[in-house]
Amino acid sequence: MKVAIIGQGYVGLTISAFASKHHQVIGFDNNSENVSRLNQGISHIEGVDSKDLASAIAAGNYRATTNASDISEAEIVVIAVPTPLTKDRKPDLSFIESACKTIGSSLKKPALIINESTSFPGTLRHYIKPGVEKYSAAKIEHLYAISPERVDPGRVDWNQKNTPRLFAGLTKQASDRTRSFYSTFCDNLVEVSSPEVAEAAKLFENTFRQVNIALVNEFAEIAHALGISVHETLDAANTKPYGFMKFSPSAGVGGHCIPVDPSYLAHVAAEMGVPATFIQRANEVNLEMPKYIVERVAADNGGTLKGKRVQVIGVSYKPDVADVRETPAELVIDELNSQGAITSWHDPIVKNWHGQESSALGGSEIAIVVTLHSAMDKSAVLKSAPYVFDTTGKVDGAIGL
Ligand SMILES: NC(=O)c1ccc[n+]([C@@H]2O[C@H](COP(=O)([O-])OP(=O)(O)OC[C@H]3O[C@@H](n4cnc5c(N)ncnc54)[C@H](O)[C@@H]3O)[C@@H](O)[C@H]2O)c1
Repeated sequence: MKVAIIGQGYVGLTISAFASKHHQVIGFDNNSENVSRLNQGISHIEGVDSKDLASAIAAGNYRATTNASDISEAEIVVIAVPTPLTKDRKPDLSFIESACKTIGSSLKKPALIINESTSFPGTLRHYIKPGVEKYSAAKIEHLYAISPERVDPGRVDWNQKNTPRLFAGLTKQASDRTRSFYSTFCDNLVEVSSPEVAEAAKLFENTFRQVNIALVNEFAEIAHALGISVHETLDAANTKPYGFMKFSPSAGVGGHCIPVDPSYLAHVAAEMGVPATFIQRANEVNLEMPKYIVERVAADNGGTLKGKRVQVIGVSYKPDVADVRETPAELVIDELNSQGAITSWHDPIVKNWHGQESSALGGSEIAIVVTLHSAMDKSAVLKSAPYVFDTTGKVDGAIGL
């Protein structure tokens, strides 16, 4: 099968790697630097091995391109482009729109178009199908389906093969072809009754995480005020074999999904006149965590951080990935700067951020651990400053949430 995958980032490249074991994949992306690296067999995504990419290229099963006409013969097109928020935290479908233009104006014959990008219910039906048709000069009748992506970058136990995949087509034929495509590399396909159910399920999965992370973050503040350990309390609650799921406190949420997707749900809720109060409050609680942490650190250090050297350790949004999108480390650093601290950051995986190199571990009076990568030596982290505040709960001996 000839498959075109629009967007070669975390989602698109991961799908390309799995699909190219069974199909001829063209990875279309408008970032020419990434495309050129990919064609040399160099992966920029954790979880996609450069060796696998190089073998797929050598077998003639993978090629990246910036040239839209290269997808003209595709039988299946997968959309995996960003769906961020605008400045006023509204869904930004401009990347979807541009992908629809590429697809509509390039395809020469009917294809199955599957959206894997996360968006609100109705996106496939009311934006993608009309969007592709608008740019299709030949008025070709394509099939349309949704299969929201669940990849967790850097994770090895759950992957494309064993993670159940939701899907639904706009027509039965679209659903059937979607099933047969994904069944070549995914063991567990779950068909739902409409694209809107699949789209909403994806948003709810991430909203569930965001709300529970906010709840545990709020509880961390309550536990501290009560003078008890939040971690011991959560471990105690977690001995209940049913009806409880453990979430851990942190400096907040980051990445392309958890801080963003709930706002897509809140957006449709508002359009339908339903107040999404949990989502709004969860957002606020998570965004307030950096301020709370910096205030705790200041309180422990004479009530002020003015002129004090503070190093933030781990700036990606989660362990073992280099992704800094929406990272709470940024808010921690902003808060420290606003309190007059002299800040630096250390991250052996991120290495370069905002045009600045990672500084060496240590050399500050205060360290705040935001993300602990597995390659980091915990005892070196603990010794990196006379005062270490650990937001992860993993550095024994440090002060923490
Ligand atoms: N990253 C995750 O963990 C994850 C998990 C599940 C779902 N998602 C969803 O998947 C979608 C993609 O996310 P991602 O993390 O892969 O983003 P990403 O930023 O890593 O990758 C997107 C890629 O698309 C390219 N691109 C942008 N516009 C394009 C266009 N018009 N044509 C071709 N290429 C274009 C970019 O250059 C980039 O390489 C989003 O909707 C996201 O919410 C992401």
